[in-house]
Parts: sequence; structure tokens; C-alpha cells
Amino acid sequence: MNKISLLLITGILLICCRKKTIQNMKEKSRGFIAENAMVVSAREEASKIGLDIMKQGGNAFDAMIATDLALLVSYPVAGNIGGGGFMVFRMADGTSGALDYREMAPILATKNMYLDQEGKVMSEKSKTGALAIGVPGTIAGLFEIHNKFGTISIEKLIQPAINLANAGIVITLAQANRLNQHKASFRNVNQRQILYDKQWRAGDIIKNPSLAKTLERIKTEGRDGFYKGKTADFIVNKVQNLGGIITKEDLENYNVKWRDPIIFNYNGHKIISMPPPSSGGICLAQILKTIEPYNIGQYKHNSKKYIQLMVEAERRSYADRSYFLGDPDFVDISKDSLTSIKYLSKRMKSFNWDKATKSSDLSRGSFLGHESDETTHYSIVDCEGNSVSVTTTLNGAYGSKVFVDKGGFFLNNEMDDFSVKPGTPNMFGLIGAEANSIAAKKRMLSSMTPTIIETNGQLKMVLGSPGGSTIITTVLQNILNVLDYNMTMEESVSKPRFHHQWLPDNIKFETSFDTTVFSSLKKLGYKVDNSDFLVIGKTDAILVLPDGRLEGGADPRGDDKAEGF
Ligand code: DON
Repeated sequence: MNKISLLLITGILLICCRKKTIQNMKEKSRGFIAENAMVVSAREEASKIGLDIMKQGGNAFDAMIATDLALLVSYPVAGNIGGGGFMVFRMADGTSGALDYREMAPILATKNMYLDQEGKVMSEKSKTGALAIGVPGTIAGLFEIHNKFGTISIEKLIQPAINLANAGIVITLAQANRLNQHKASFRNVNQRQILYDKQWRAGDIIKNPSLAKTLERIKTEGRDGFYKGKTADFIVNKVQNLGGIITKEDLENYNVKWRDPIIFNYNGHKIISMPPPSSGGICLAQILKTIEPYNIGQYKHNSKKYIQLMVEAERRSYADRSYFLGDPDFVDISKDSLTSIKYLSKRMKSFNWDKATKSSDLSRGSFLGHESDETTHYSIVDCEGNSVSVTTTLNGAYGSKVFVDKGGFFLNNEMDDFSVKPGTPNMFGLIGAEANSIAAKKRMLSSMTPTIIETNGQLKMVLGSPGGSTIITTVLQNILNVLDYNMTMEESVSKPRFHHQWLPDNIKFETSFDTTVFSSLKKLGYKVDNSDFLVIGKTDAILVLPDGRLEGGADPRGDDKAEGF
């Protein structure tokens, strides 16, 4: 080999190596990558169980059912059969839809049920204990999905959760701390020791044989295994013994609703999200359509102007949320007007780069503190390219804390998502009006925002988050991170976030947020709060890369995990 060819070969090798290093570097900032299918959820076991179903040939909907029930066992703070949720789907051929299996107010619920004789709010009653519980929707939702889209037998989809409940889950440090933190309220609410009321350490194993038996009943009797018979008896006895109002009739009459998703265009991307009774899709549309003409990508990420623009759009949207939105089966919602460019640009007329708008100039209200709360979101894409985006919740951590001992599960405290009295904030500081007042069989307004994005006719992203009122702004920031700032999915979910919800009139920043921008915001009249803020969502998302591979974004704020093949 002469000198020239040696040099040439070395040169080529160097270029190849360099290319590889650059690729490796790029891949490093990416999350977990898979070729075919993926589940990203709050727990490793749940992601694995969902994925396993797809390895056996199941589709995204089969995987959803198995993942959901695995979360019930392995993530009792939010995974549930005693709560409810929303699913947005998009099939590989581009058709989409949304399922609402949100809790409903019991038949005996009344508008003023949380007010005392003087009309004062008994604030704890909608948050903790038996009166806080809405009629659960999760099992009805899962069976509806199975009937419509399932390809694997329900027995096969339920069995992994039964096995997990019998074998026991190994709890993480975060889980042990969470459970220990709620020990006293478990005891107070249930007036006896429940399965979870012990001093826990990371690595402890929790078996739940009663839950395994409940799941066995559901496996053999179908949805009636929850809404009728033994499980229904267990629920009604427990709730009524603790002073609640849920009856067998409530359980038997629970129904799910297929809804038309909120679909809109943002900078050429098609966004598909959850309609009322969630405010998620409408608020997301309002905020994105409000900022679209400003070309936000021209401003540095998380800079003063970026924050200003988002905060002003959020302020206006959350003010609308509080007044206009509620259960669409009870109130008329002018969703087209609320999301029209004409209306949104009119709303922004009062926006001024030199001075913060005051929330009190839009409307007024007050604010209560947050407690530590949990919901859970998971995203799934199957081998065919079908996708589901699911957010499910008990509302607060372990819901109402009411534990159906004989059934092995917690019941929600979703009633607090209603506006218990106009102008009185709920536990997320959200204020509501007549549109979200309590009525028998009505669904309480939600912020859950399971979302799917399509670009040029192809699936682009599947995402969502827990976090109460911060869900919408969390989903929003992740959309902008990827679409306008070209971040990888993992980078995006890891970025520090902020939140504004009209009232209280302050910007909540995560403690990890770069504080250098605060003084310039304060000069413009913005109130800045970066005190420890518990409720800022954990995003579990999937991004489809240009070559068709899937990148998982599992939020490092939790034990969340992407699994794929
Ligand atoms: O539906 C809602 O908007 C609330 N119940 C969600 C609660 C929640 O996200 C708590 N999690 N952190």
C-alpha cells in the first residue's frame, strides 16, 4: 500500500469515526430508542407488561388495558380502578377519537353539598373521605376500549396484573416516602389500619391478594365484576359506612362517552387533544393559537420574552376556563368561538410587552395552597403505528384515601374538581362558576390533556402529564420544546418548567429554573414564585424520529420508564 492510499484510508476512517461520535453524542441526549413499539409510563413494571402484550401481537389498545391495570397494582397513588380518565387515540391511518371515562357525581349529589348552613365551604369534605368520591369510570372505560379495539382476550390482558398483585410489588424510595407521608390520613379516613398503613422502606414488597381477587372477578364477570355483585357491595358498604352517598344504582348506571377530540393546527402540525369535560384540549388550543402569530421560536427558550408571551396567553385561557367550561352534557360550550383566531387576538389586545397584565383586570379570585397530588399519564405506540395517549387519576394522592379493604383499592376524590362554590378555589387553586357546579350524574371539569400530534400526515408525538392545573401548561411547554426548539423527547421532558393559571396572579417556577430571568420579569410587574412547588407534571411521551424509530421521554422527576422493542 503506498503512502497516498494509506493517508486516504486513514482519512476515511477518521471521517467515519467522527460521524459516529457525533451520532453517539446526539443519541446520548436522546431518551430510550426503539424500532417498533413503545410504552412510557410511571412504573417500569407497567411499561414492561404493556410492551409484553405488544410482543405477543397485541395492539396499542390491548397494551393500554394491561398497562393501566399494572399501574393500578404497582402505582397505587394514582393507578386505579376507583377513579377515571381520558384516552385520545390515533390509528395508523390517521383516524382519531377520544374516550371519556371520567367519574360522575352520585345521584344524591347536590349543588351545595359542601356548604354548611351558613353557606360556608366545608373545604375538606370535597377533598378527603367518603363524600369526596365520584362514581368510578376506569373499568367501564377499559371494557369499552376492549370491545371496540381489543385483539387479545381480556383474560390475557388482566392476568399480568393479577400475577403482580399476588407476587407483590417492590416499592421504590419515592413510593415508600409517599406512603409514609400519608400514613396518618389513611388511618383517620378509614378509622382502621389499611394495607398501606405501615412504615415502609425502599425495597419492601407489597402484596395485595384482595386486589388480585377483585381482578379475578372482573376477569370472569367482565365489567359487572366491578359495577355489580361482590365488588359493588364492598364499595357501597365501605362508602356508606364512612358517610358517603354512592349507591348500587350509581355504579350500575355509570356510562362512558365517546367524544370528538379537539383538533387544531399549530404551525402546520395537527394537534389532537381531549375535549370537555376536560379543559385540556380547549385551553391548549387557545394558548397555542394565541402565541402562534408571535413566532415564539425566535425568542431564547425560557427567556423573558418567551415566558411573558406564554404567561399572558395562559392567564387569558385559564380565566376563560373558570367561567365557560364544564360537562358538555350539562352546559353549552362555544368551543369554536373560544378557540377562534378572531376571539383570541381580541383577548390579546390588552397585552403589552412593557407591562404585565393584571389578572384582576381580567377577573378576580383568591387562592389556597397545593397539597401533594398525583395522576398518571402513559403513552403507547404499537408496531402498526397506532397510538394511545392516556391520563388517569384518583385526583389527589391515593384519592379520597378511602380504601375498599375487601377489594384492595383506593377510591377517588374527584368531586373536588367541581366548583363547590363560585369563586372558591379547589385544591389546585382553580376557580369555577355555574358551568362547573355540582349536579347529579354530572362530570367534573378536568385539566387532563392526553394529546397526539401529527405532522405531514404522519404520527409525530404522543404525550400527556399529571399535575392538576399544571397539566395543560406542562403539555404546552413540551410541545413547544420539540416543535419550536427542536429538542429531543428526553431533553424536553427534563427541562425546568413554569406555570401561570390566571389566579393566583403569579408565575410558579420549578426550583431548578434559572433565576437570572426573574429580576427583569419583576420589573415588568410579574410576580415570581419559585418556592417548592409540588404539583408540576411528569411528562411521559413518545417522539417519532425522522427515520421512523421511536424515542421515549420518561420524566426524570419520577421513577418513570420507557420500554420498547
Ligand atoms: O382531572 C384533573 O384535572 C385532576 N383531577 C387531575 C389531578 C392531578 O393531576 C393530580 N396530579 N398530580
